Amino acid sequence: MDVLVIEGGRRLEGAVAIAGAKNAALPQIAAALLSDAPVRLAGLPRVADVETMLRLVESYGLVVEHAGPHEAVLDPAAARNGEAPYDSVRRMRASVLVLGPLLARFGEARVSLPGGCAIGARPVDLHLKALAALGAEVGIEAGVIVAEAPAGGLVGGRIVLASPSVGATETAMMAATRARGETEILNAARDPEVQDLAACLVAMGATIEGAGTHRIRIAGPTTWRAARHEIVPDRIEAGTYAIAAAITGGRLELSGAHLEHLAVVGEVLESAGVRLFPTDRGLMVDGTGPLRGVDVTTEPYPGFPTDLQAQYMALASVAEGAALVRETVFENRFMHVPELSRLGADIRLEGTSALVRGGRKLKGAPVMATDLRASVCLVIAGLAAQGETVVSRVYHLDRGYEELDRKLVRCGAAIRRETRA
Ligand code: UD1
Repeated sequence: MDVLVIEGGRRLEGAVAIAGAKNAALPQIAAALLSDAPVRLAGLPRVADVETMLRLVESYGLVVEHAGPHEAVLDPAAARNGEAPYDSVRRMRASVLVLGPLLARFGEARVSLPGGCAIGARPVDLHLKALAALGAEVGIEAGVIVAEAPAGGLVGGRIVLASPSVGATETAMMAATRARGETEILNAARDPEVQDLAACLVAMGATIEGAGTHRIRIAGPTTWRAARHEIVPDRIEAGTYAIAAAITGGRLELSGAHLEHLAVVGEVLESAGVRLFPTDRGLMVDGTGPLRGVDVTTEPYPGFPTDLQAQYMALASVAEGAALVRETVFENRFMHVPELSRLGADIRLEGTSALVRGGRKLKGAPVMATDLRASVCLVIAGLAAQGETVVSRVYHLDRGYEELDRKLVRCGAAIRRETRA
């Protein structure tokens, strides 16, 4: 199994190219199942989750042709229905995103229920309610979601989401492109990845308005056409490198990153003493000044993303003063806390809040990754720690970060990947 060995204490300097967003790529690959014409996706990040999603849509007859390292053409001409197996959904919860497209296209869909997930219960009830609002009969049989459209196919309707779930908004939007008549999604997620899915669907021929606001309207059904779409840069990857630069007291230019997509993250980092300014190529992060702890509450976009909470906690551990970090999106998303403590962080957990007492000098130690964002938080802490940090279970990292170790090495970090028994 691969481990990362990090020699801490080096400043990051230079430039990092930000990849296309994994969380935008996954629904767009699923969306290709809706179309009658090929979809060319550019800016696909080379990460394990994208590979898994490509394999999944291939199992439904889509032909995936790679056109360079970051581009693929997905041809749905021979698409066929089938069941999304438990193994795939268990490995990657986003597999559930094929449910809406399969139902809309074939009139029925069977997808295994995602199992319990390491970062909380993560139910799919909102996805199912959204599909029911479009006329589908939805039930669960022996651990499998079974959805069936009415005889004439899905019909447009009004979907009110009880909370602005990213995945449920995407499921609803995709299914509605093949429904007859107008669909309105209220309390929709406003994330850049939702907007990017809408842009991709529009390029494919769909009529969608309001993506990026709480109210999205889709006029179906769609006349599909061949499309090319460039995936939006990954704001979580950008935020991760911004924090990595800051924790080492370094300066990094994040090419392709958009300050406005970072939303509250930009403000939090600036309050913490990090300077951020747009450049011709993207975003400059200057972390050479003193750092201080700032309280953070995770919230749906444009609030502080839960996907940057673990990384921020590493930063707060070395910044001056205390920071209260509240997690409101997922329960049980503090699994990185005991591992950060092994590196010398002082964090007290109380329910969904963590009090981080900063000003710590971190010291290298062996630590274990538990999920994608937790694993990168340990790498970030390792960059600031004195001596050697060994992060095991880095396969979590490879699910969502393209060449993290190589990108960091190019900016001056001392990291090597080793295969250990
Ligand atoms: C997406 C992201 C993930 C990110 C999360 C929150 C992808 C592939 N993944 O996940 O990286 O951490 O958004 O920004 O885009 N919920 C329900 N019922 C549902 C659906 C969700 O109760 O049917 C709850 C979840 O348990 C969670 C909250 O809603 O507490 C937010 O989840 P959601 O926005 O759906 O996250 P995902 O789309 O799964």
